[in-house]
Amino acid sequence: MLGNFKYSNPTALYFGENALEGLHQELPRYGKNILLVYGGGSIKASGLYEEILAILKKEGKTVIEDPGVMPNPTVEKLLEGSRLAREHQVDLILAVGGGSVCDYAKAVSVSAHCSEDPWTKYFLRMDDVDNPIIPVGCILTMVGTGSEMNGGTVITHPESKLKIGHVFGENVYPKFSVLNPVLTYTIPRRQMVAGFFDIFSHILEQYFSGEDDNTSDYLMEGLMKSLIHSTRIALNDPENYEARSNIMWTATWALNSLVGKGKSMDWMVHMMGQSIGGYTNATHGMTLSAISLAYYRYLLPYGLPKFKRFAQEVWHVRPEGKSDEEIALEGLHALERYMTELGVALNITELGVTEDMLDGIVQGTFILNGGYKVLTPEEVRQVLKASL
Ligand code: NZQ
Ligand code: ZN
Repeated sequence: MLGNFKYSNPTALYFGENALEGLHQELPRYGKNILLVYGGGSIKASGLYEEILAILKKEGKTVIEDPGVMPNPTVEKLLEGSRLAREHQVDLILAVGGGSVCDYAKAVSVSAHCSEDPWTKYFLRMDDVDNPIIPVGCILTMVGTGSEMNGGTVITHPESKLKIGHVFGENVYPKFSVLNPVLTYTIPRRQMVAGFFDIFSHILEQYFSGEDDNTSDYLMEGLMKSLIHSTRIALNDPENYEARSNIMWTATWALNSLVGKGKSMDWMVHMMGQSIGGYTNATHGMTLSAISLAYYRYLLPYGLPKFKRFAQEVWHVRPEGKSDEEIALEGLHALERYMTELGVALNITELGVTEDMLDGIVQGTFILNGGYKVLTPEEVRQVLKASL
């Protein structure tokens, strides 16, 4: 049965080759002080940085720079950015980059005026926000996380090896996001394919959970088919606008909260992946790909009809003369072949995980109860061990 829900999404999207023009519509809505947040320099190499500065100048804004947001942003960086935002009385945080930069911007937006330690409040205790929030706008350069249209923010605490996500409400969603597929052409291949698999994983986490005759399941099958089709084109022709734009749009829909509505959702691949990330600082999408096959093989008996449907609807497995289990397993084989085509990590050893880390990774894994099977810590360990 479809669960009860409220759905609305406050993020305005500007999509396409001229999407940056949207800044002229959005910027006048906010005060003068802009915190310009970006990563390690890709936006300078591409010329995007200069282009954005020119727009901000034209709009009469004062720019406070916050560069150096690292992949998997840390608590230390969050505290630094929060101080900067507070001291300069920032009116808008403009994030230019991938999921890490967008996530970080949202974390700064709720932390700048927070009187407590934000790591403890928002990530260890998962409290709601009860202080002023600085609005965020995103200019996306890396596709995968969906951070451009959701309330998610994931922060890493390297000392305790914990990587924790908090999904905030609509008040923290970006007010607007600029999505120009051309900006994604320069992403290095390994990063690009990690993003492709991140999108796939977001869909699978919502697809393989209860309430299985939901309209969203049909939407997700469509998104997966589009993703498989377009990523295959992009692998051979990274500057194919149609493919890269479809992938960008699919990534947004995969995690802007729509397709999960009315479903209990699973998210255990992400919970284990984040814990692996806390231990290794590995690229997010790779932490997911490295454990997905072992996890879904383990889950298959608990959700057999849906795995059979996945095989037939997404991978066009023919059912004649086969048992349900054989059909379902063929679907997972097809997924494995596709992952091999992408070139994503297929085990956690290549991410630097060793057997002696498994206890710690199990401890850092939050066990959720939305999927076909609520795992015990021992089962988490089994899945991780099978992924070595
Ligand atoms: O730092 P720069 O120099 O910009 O380089 C970045 C970075 O090294 C580079 N890059 C980005 N766009 C580029 C580019 N290089 C060349 N050309 C471009 N156009 O890519 C590298 C990785 O960027 P990052 O932002 O870390 O990647 P991604 O978008 O995958 O974000 C990962 C983070 O998002 C979190 C992950 O846990 C991880 O911390 N997630 C956020 C979610 C959310 N908000 O809902 C959900 C996801 O499941 C995920 O957990
Ligand atoms: Zn993800």
